[in-house]
Amino acid sequence: MNVVNFGSLNIDHVYAVDHFCRAGETIHTKSYTQNAGGKGLNQSIAVSRSGQKVHHAGLLGPEGARLAELLSGSGVDLRYLKHTDVPQGHAVIQVQPDGQNCIFLYGGSNQAVTPQEIDEVLMQLNAGDYLLLQNEINSLGTILEKAHARGIRTAFNFAPFDPEDAKTLPLGLLSYLIVNEIEGAGVAGVAEPEAILRTLKERYPGCRVILTLGKAGAAFLGDDGVMVPVPPCPAEVVDTTSAGDTFIGYLFAGLLEGMELKAAMELAGRASAITVSRAGAADSIPFRKELR
Ligand code: RIB
Repeated sequence: MNVVNFGSLNIDHVYAVDHFCRAGETIHTKSYTQNAGGKGLNQSIAVSRSGQKVHHAGLLGPEGARLAELLSGSGVDLRYLKHTDVPQGHAVIQVQPDGQNCIFLYGGSNQAVTPQEIDEVLMQLNAGDYLLLQNEINSLGTILEKAHARGIRTAFNFAPFDPEDAKTLPLGLLSYLIVNEIEGAGVAGVAEPEAILRTLKERYPGCRVILTLGKAGAAFLGDDGVMVPVPPCPAEVVDTTSAGDTFIGYLFAGLLEGMELKAAMELAGRASAITVSRAGAADSIPFRKELR
């Protein structure tokens, strides 16, 4: 079975700050680093470091050589990665002493996907194969519709959340939807975790919804319609960047290994506990042997 992650690649500009910059404020930063990131890239690396085979499709800008090196060095297959002259997507990330972050994105190369590239990637997949997606590339509606028509199973991480996309994307075609509490509330229109899961189950009966809850762990709706909580793993938090991406990559890898959903989510929780204990995005994602 083929697994393709059609996703973003970013250069992350990371600033350590005392507090997130407020409107009208100018602040000094304590450090600056440039890291590999992007929800797409991070999730491909997490799948691969967990021991599963994954292809990364997407667009590499002129400044992206280091991103491709990190992906291939982590075992990700890059045969579907294309080059573009559009500047590499990037993120500006503030990290507070408590490890919380605040991110804004410049789409660049990630928003330059063409209809031809979409067709080329989807042609490589057959019914039953998996396509992983995040909300950092363009034309997701087209991708979801075309993938569904070919019988490809899709998993979508609705991050970053955009209310307009929530109205237009055909989320009912998904096999898996992975959201955090804020994204889930945005899609469902209700705030409480169990209500989010129930609302989305009613609206998209064929889609399995996974809700991540930060420090509170994660949850899903059992077959009896009751919420199944998955407790968090204790962790010393240094930087929460890419914790969600690690969770998704490992969750997916666990499912590919044939684990039950709850066991795969527990594995994912252990992996993301390691990620938050380190600084950075892709670089902080653990290898499977570190989970032992
Ligand atoms: O999820 C973390 C990622 O979000 C960062 O690496 C940044 O690039 C943004 O895409």
